[in-house]
Amino acid sequence: MIRDERWTGVYHFEDSPFIMEILTELRDERTGPIAFRKGLVKLGRYLAYEITKTMETERIRINTPLEETDGVLITDRRNVVIITVLRAAIPLMEGLIKVLDHARVGIVSASRSKAPKFEIEMKYVKVPQIKEKDTVIIADPMIATGSTLIKVLDEVKKYGKAKRYVIVGVLAAPEGISRIKEAHPDVEMFVAAIDRELNEKGYILPGLGDAGDRAFGAP
Ligand code: URA
Repeated sequence: MIRDERWTGVYHFEDSPFIMEILTELRDERTGPIAFRKGLVKLGRYLAYEITKTMETERIRINTPLEETDGVLITDRRNVVIITVLRAAIPLMEGLIKVLDHARVGIVSASRSKAPKFEIEMKYVKVPQIKEKDTVIIADPMIATGSTLIKVLDEVKKYGKAKRYVIVGVLAAPEGISRIKEAHPDVEMFVAAIDRELNEKGYILPGLGDAGDRAFGAP
């Protein structure tokens, strides 16, 4: 886990050969939708494990069939809300929820209009009530301009104040991270990797293309 020095609470995983191998397959233009979705599920699961390392735990006493011993409970794992940003986050959420299996799930549709405006349209919002003990995880594979996530965070924060807000993604552009941290300094981010830059159409470079199109085989 790399703790980025440019921003607080931003973690990426170029030091993990396992994550980098999955990412390599996702980036490869020859990877079709089935393998692409599988890769997103695997990444979701792995990034969820990484998030649990930063969660509050409790020591408990339990009995094995033979004797009493110490045990661990990840207290925060019981209080998770996963917000799925349609549509590319669906497979990522599937992986996250395998580890964060107590999670309540919200769905948000948010899409960018084309260049040069990149306006965000949110047509569907279904978010559970958020409690002060909750860790809210917002799943969105591509953190590009950051506009979608800023809008999603604005919206999600209307449903109650959480203990933590964590964005989980595959790739992030530095521009997007800076914009999100400016608008929502309390937000943390766990992404497989931080890429170089955005192109004029708002795509991440070198990136992996359009995550939704690649996951579902349909533009
Ligand atoms: N969304 C994507 O799917 N890909 C990008 O590169 C940027 C935003």
